[in-house]
Amino acid sequence: MKLRTLLFSLAALGICGSAAAQAPIVIKFSHVVAADTPKGKASEFFKKRAEELTKGKVRVEVYANSALYKDKEELEALQLGAVQMLAPSLAKFGPLGVKEFEVFDLPYIFDDYTDLHRVTQGPVGMGILKKLEPKGIVGLAYWDNGFKSFSANTPIRTPADVKGKKLRIQSSKVLEEEIRTLGGLPQVMAFSEVYQALQTGVVDGTENPHSNMYTQKMHEVQKYLTLTDHGYLGYAVIANKKFWDGLPADVRGNLEQAMKDSTAYANKIAQEENDKSLEAIKKSGKTQVYVPTRDEKLAFKRALMPVHQKMESRIGKDLIQSIYKETGFDPAKL
Ligand code: LMR
Repeated sequence: MKLRTLLFSLAALGICGSAAAQAPIVIKFSHVVAADTPKGKASEFFKKRAEELTKGKVRVEVYANSALYKDKEELEALQLGAVQMLAPSLAKFGPLGVKEFEVFDLPYIFDDYTDLHRVTQGPVGMGILKKLEPKGIVGLAYWDNGFKSFSANTPIRTPADVKGKKLRIQSSKVLEEEIRTLGGLPQVMAFSEVYQALQTGVVDGTENPHSNMYTQKMHEVQKYLTLTDHGYLGYAVIANKKFWDGLPADVRGNLEQAMKDSTAYANKIAQEENDKSLEAIKKSGKTQVYVPTRDEKLAFKRALMPVHQKMESRIGKDLIQSIYKETGFDPAKL
């Protein structure tokens, strides 16, 4: 009897021991948008791939819609190690002291995704990600969202229509300058608060790609939307550096592969997700969608070009020039 008990205890210990050895590494991945957006879908894709490739050694918990943290808090939580991964918009790294990401906010700096990928998939983009390391953060990839439209309760068809309007922006000095250059009043606000601010009239309008607007129902509280495509919004996928560097090498290799696969997926679906959202906004009949003519768009471009020069001292003239070089953009040719 005693021997049986002993054997039983040893077996139980063995089981417990191996269970403990196999306890998965948990990655909390927090973000602020809806699950049904390019970033929401890509983070779920990453979860699936990471769990598959690590054969269960890693469990990824995705928290969408600011369920865990809002914009500013999530970066603090990552640095403290309360979450392991995030994918903040490139417009949100200024308060952390990494101003270079704001180069992506410069109005009309990218004509399209092809221009953008020359930067995000090349040495200039990689160089910007590296700037995160002294902050205890490792930059893993860029994920696309898309090009922004302006929305408001009175039509925005010309740069002059922005004058005097309070517009919600992300926490980027370039975006602040963009709105001021048009004579508007920029209001920095967390993404989770935008719908209510639009609904109650705390702000008059905003800017975002269509997938963000539609999934937050912003179109239900905004009468007009203008397809200005005046700037890009995308993400840096980042991890707590101590956590990432401390992973077993095989697991980190699997996660790098999972990230490569999810980046390809994110960048494949971003445009179609935004197109679908625009169609859904049109179909709702709640917002009047305006497509500016070529000349009307050019008027926005010309009005916003001074922002590039004004922000040189903040972002770095060389960095701006290196992006022009990658994309062939020449502000003088407008
Ligand atoms: C915003 O705050 O408007 C966006 O950065 C939200 C997001 O993560 O796409």
